[in-house]
Amino acid sequence: MMMLKLGLLQTTKLAYTAVTIGPRSYAISKRAFSATTECTEGGKAGRGGQSASPLAPLGVTAALEAADGEAPRAKIFDEFSLHDRVGLVSGGNRGLGLEMAMALAEAGARAVYCVDLATQPSNEWKAVRDYLGRMNVEGGKAPRLEYVSADVRDQAGMWQIGQDIGDKEKRMDFCVAAAGILKTHTDCLEYPAKQFQEVMDVNTNGVLYTVQAAGRQMSRFGRGGSIVLIASMSGSITNRDHAWVSYNTSKSAVLQMTRSMACELGPKRIRVNSLSPGHIYTRRVVLFLIFFIRMRLKGEA
Ligand SMILES: NC(=O)c1ccc[n+]([C@@H]2O[C@H](COP(=O)([O-])OP(=O)(O)OC[C@H]3O[C@@H](n4cnc5c(N)ncnc54)[C@H](O)[C@@H]3O)[C@@H](O)[C@H]2O)c1
Repeated sequence: MMMLKLGLLQTTKLAYTAVTIGPRSYAISKRAFSATTECTEGGKAGRGGQSASPLAPLGVTAALEAADGEAPRAKIFDEFSLHDRVGLVSGGNRGLGLEMAMALAEAGARAVYCVDLATQPSNEWKAVRDYLGRMNVEGGKAPRLEYVSADVRDQAGMWQIGQDIGDKEKRMDFCVAAAGILKTHTDCLEYPAKQFQEVMDVNTNGVLYTVQAAGRQMSRFGRGGSIVLIASMSGSITNRDHAWVSYNTSKSAVLQMTRSMACELGPKRIRVNSLSPGHIYTRRVVLFLIFFIRMRLKGEA
């Protein structure tokens, strides 16, 4: 019997994930929530027809199977724990990438590798690393934040980073592709080819190379994994008065890349989801707001 396990993770506008049913994979689009979906053959991969989780039995099955007088143990947070996991976050030197790297570390990861352009990590990044290093965690070992200076546009370089992490840590479990750029307002009818290409190179090609870097290692170790591509609401909608044809196009491509990779990688138990943030207060957004307000004051927007 085929069993389907749904684990609700977080709210987001759009998400796609792979569902494997028998030999076939399907990409599922979900509005208003993101779900991780894992299918296992009952009795084959899991116990008693439930999922292959090492924590099984879970949920209602746990209640049904509990022995008389057994003291129940809450497992819901353990189920989502990243204990001992290793992963890579692009754009992890600041902004959303750094926030997510920190959240992953706090959720139990052994090591989070932050890949970003700057040759040296920012003071913000160093403060997070030191803070995590002092953190009291179960098991006693504080999570490790590592910094790697690299350009996500360099496919061979990104693959090598993945390989080096895999060789050192002997695993790769998660990836967040957050590196992205946004150019100033530019009329779509005048949009220069070079500028358009620059945005596509980072926001679309760079995301592909980042996912490949981690995904190749997940495939190598055969333990599955979870990949999140940071898209944007601008991949699905267009903000009024925002002349951002390159950004919007690049983020749309990320959404379709997610569906495509989710279907291909589902059979390897590698989940691929996208996250479409709205406006989130980061340095980039602050710079944009200053620019936009100036334009408004000048009557140009
Ligand atoms: N902040 C928001 O409101 C918002 C909304 C929707 C989507 N997003 C997306 O979230 C992601 C992060 O946004 P943010 O606001 O934190 O931006 P940010 O500019 O603060 O951070 C982006 C990071 O990516 C890095 N980066 C840029 N080009 C790179 C390259 N070629 N190689 C390696 N690293 C590179 C930058 O150095 C920077 O550290 C982006 O993909 C962005 O498009 C952000």
